[in-house]
Amino acid sequence: MVILKSPEEIEKLKASNGIVADILSELREMIRPGITTIELDIYSEELALKRGAKPAFKGYMGYPFSLCVSVNNEVVHGMPSDRALEEGDIVSLDFGVCYNEYYGDSAITIPVGKSSDIAKRLIGTTRKALYCGIEEARAGNRLGDISAAIQGQVEAAGFSVVRDFVGHGIGKSLHEDPQIPNFGVRGRGIKLKPGMVFAVEPMVNEGTYKIKVLNDGWTAVTFDGKLSAHFEHSLAITENGPVILSEVA
Ligand code: MF3
Ligand code: CO
Repeated sequence: MVILKSPEEIEKLKASNGIVADILSELREMIRPGITTIELDIYSEELALKRGAKPAFKGYMGYPFSLCVSVNNEVVHGMPSDRALEEGDIVSLDFGVCYNEYYGDSAITIPVGKSSDIAKRLIGTTRKALYCGIEEARAGNRLGDISAAIQGQVEAAGFSVVRDFVGHGIGKSLHEDPQIPNFGVRGRGIKLKPGMVFAVEPMVNEGTYKIKVLNDGWTAVTFDGKLSAHFEHSLAITENGPVILSEVA
């Protein structure tokens, strides 16, 4: 069941997602060779608490950290550790909060120092695919229009979309219906309505779309060891089209 949100609820979701956006942009400024992924996690939690928000991921299904930090071949749910980022790495930061009972959720992928041309192209394609998907998040369209737009962008660039993780509705829970795959067929799926709020999150691999989860139970890595990138925005569908909630004001 897809829970529709009132304009007042969308304002609250904007506040929560605005906090996430601000914190991600502060974390982005800290990315440099030598910083450890646990430092980023600790800082993300401090920033959330300072804003009166609760980190959304900590304790969710037993996840022990506030931030997911996925480096290079790690797709999503990378666990913070004493690993130091290195020049040429790419790093995905996925962060969420609960504020005033409503959730915010967003992710970005960033090069560490100078990165390879393929890494830059992967990051650019993934970001562009997210925005192409968001463009389809309009009343009267179908869910499959979002999915197909993302998949089309990614595959035209010669990359692949991960099948094993999907986007989701978001509201008073971090994960609500519907599931939002990053692959699909235009014209299929539920009809989109004003008041729907979605977290759209393409995960894009350089090589095969296949992934595996490491023995820690969380870290998803590419099956072939090649690179992966991830961008996520939470957005509201309104009478006037999509409104991105997790963008710095
Ligand atoms: N953005 C991810 C999601 O929407 C983050 C979840 S990590 C978890 O599922 F630890 F909370 F599971
Ligand atoms: Co999400």
